[in-house]
Amino acid sequence: MDHFLYRDGALYAEDVPVAEIAAAVGTPFYVYSTATLLRHFRLFDEALDGMDHLVCYAMKAASNQAILKTLAQAGAGMDVVSEGEYRRARAAGVSGDKIVFSGVGKTAGEIRTALVGGVRQFNVESEPEMEVINAVAEELGKVTPITIRVNPDVDAKTHAKIATGKSENKFGIPIARARDVYAHAATLPGLKVIGIDVHIGSQLTQLDPFEQAYVKVAELTEQLRADGHEISRLDLGGGLGIPYTRSNDAPPLPTDYGALVKRTLGHLGCEIEIEPGRLIAGNAGIMVSKVIYVKNGEGRDFLIVDGAMNDLVRPAMYEAHHDIIPVIEPDVGVEEQPYDIVGPVCESGDTFAKQRDMPPLAAGDLIAFRSAGAYGAVMSSEYNSRPLIPEVLVHGDQFAVIRPRPTFDEMINRDTIPEWL
Ligand code: LLP
Repeated sequence: MDHFLYRDGALYAEDVPVAEIAAAVGTPFYVYSTATLLRHFRLFDEALDGMDHLVCYAMKAASNQAILKTLAQAGAGMDVVSEGEYRRARAAGVSGDKIVFSGVGKTAGEIRTALVGGVRQFNVESEPEMEVINAVAEELGKVTPITIRVNPDVDAKTHAKIATGKSENKFGIPIARARDVYAHAATLPGLKVIGIDVHIGSQLTQLDPFEQAYVKVAELTEQLRADGHEISRLDLGGGLGIPYTRSNDAPPLPTDYGALVKRTLGHLGCEIEIEPGRLIAGNAGIMVSKVIYVKNGEGRDFLIVDGAMNDLVRPAMYEAHHDIIPVIEPDVGVEEQPYDIVGPVCESGDTFAKQRDMPPLAAGDLIAFRSAGAYGAVMSSEYNSRPLIPEVLVHGDQFAVIRPRPTFDEMINRDTIPEWL
């Protein structure tokens, strides 16, 4: 459920007409709903009720500080994967003891920044990385909590580019080698082994792969405890998928997921961390764009819109589907027609949808790309020298620009010209 609904024939973001935001900030832009962000966070939080737990929002999904602050004030921790994310979370007021540092290749500099600023734990991804974390911690006279990310070799049954839990993927250490790696970790004075981390992929639409992974984590917990390690925290990653269409095949709900966690891991008495990104932010944001031209091609009509693959890359990158709806609600019974919906960027890949049935649209009409809150703005670029589009946050009947559109000069003046030119 989200808070982008038609009311009196027009699309609203909570209590604000989307067209009013468009008039104020220009198109294209992203708009997020505070109520949807909070609702999704609370669903997870409540799903783990009864277990000691922390929901650490995977801020890679949408990392604007206003979003982070909204979630942090509701009690969320953060999962970060770079120094930039760490600093952004801190700037948004998140304390170090609520920040989990994940990521496949943390550099010594990143590790140092987090150790100095405070960090809840590092999720270690490899043995060489573990050595570096230990070395930096020792150099700073600290002992840092760590979990080790294990790769459980399960098929997440999701898009190949976002599956991470098969043995051929670059993530974590093979679960079969875990006991050796933990034994070595226990000898390193800068590290305190506290738990296990696992994340098998993103946009999972079934619980079965989670179950397979968590059963393996439960077994490993018992083994490691028998080996003498104190395993008190399990980080279960993110990955629960969202409905990208309004059909019936909706992914499982956070409550089902929570029940699975309790069933597979509850008996171990560990503190549970989860790192959802998409399910918190995905349906809490839309991208609004304007039709520039309707072009009648050979055998097909194109809607050429002012948003493009640089603003929302998911369709080009993962063949992802986003529902696209007009901001003015179509009349009941209006006859739809198929359009190819494309951006102005000079590549055929700049196509949001092919032969998508839409009510008749004309130049100047506004459309909304639904489910664009996660991996939308954060993956945007300035390709074709198109300035990054603004982000807006709605709260009830208020809205605020939370990242303004840069001017062309701001974008251009970031370049510096060498002396010899
Ligand atoms: N934890 C770790 C260690 C991760 O790598 C990820 C996502 C998450 C948590 C959050 O997963 P989520 O709950 O959002 O599924 N750009 C792609 C998605 C990449 C996901 C990368 N890792 C997309 O647009 O579909």
